[in-house]
Amino acid sequence: MQLTINNQDYEVAADPDDMLLWVIRDTLGLTGTKYGCGAGICGSCTIHLDGEAVRSCITKVSAAEGVAITTIEGLAMLSDDGEEVLHPVQQAFVETQTPQCSWCMSGQMMTAAAFLASNPQPTDEEIDAAMNNNYCRCGCYARIRTAVARAAEIAQEGAA
Ligand code: FES
Ligand code: FES
Repeated sequence: MQLTINNQDYEVAADPDDMLLWVIRDTLGLTGTKYGCGAGICGSCTIHLDGEAVRSCITKVSAAEGVAITTIEGLAMLSDDGEEVLHPVQQAFVETQTPQCSWCMSGQMMTAAAFLASNPQPTDEEIDAAMNNNYCRCGCYARIRTAVARAAEIAQEGAA
């Protein structure tokens, strides 16, 4: 089975019914994507399939064949001179010192990145609605909202 993750092709021996989370983490060692509930509830395992945020713990690997998969390891971009540049969401989460234990944070950032791609200038209410189903056991919700709003600003500054 061939998967394309973060613009890199991988040949993996997996059962089509295996959940993508375990192929990403255990088979390929991309452990930035976290296991929380395993039931599609908490959001810690969120990745992108063709830019759309999905929960990899309930997504069969067969659904990801032929689709561009992005994990937290692939969210940063390369500048023209080949240097890694953090995604605006990553920049904002660092700048606002949002994470506490960090377990939920890759899922938070992947959800936020997909959301801002579709809504680049959201209101606080829209941010809350978009992030509402990503749980944070440390209760960092106020800082997450601030960080997502700041990420929108950083993206706008970069586009100006
Ligand atoms: S681990 Fe996938 S939603 Fe919780
Ligand atoms: S920072 Fe600890 S679970 Fe969110």
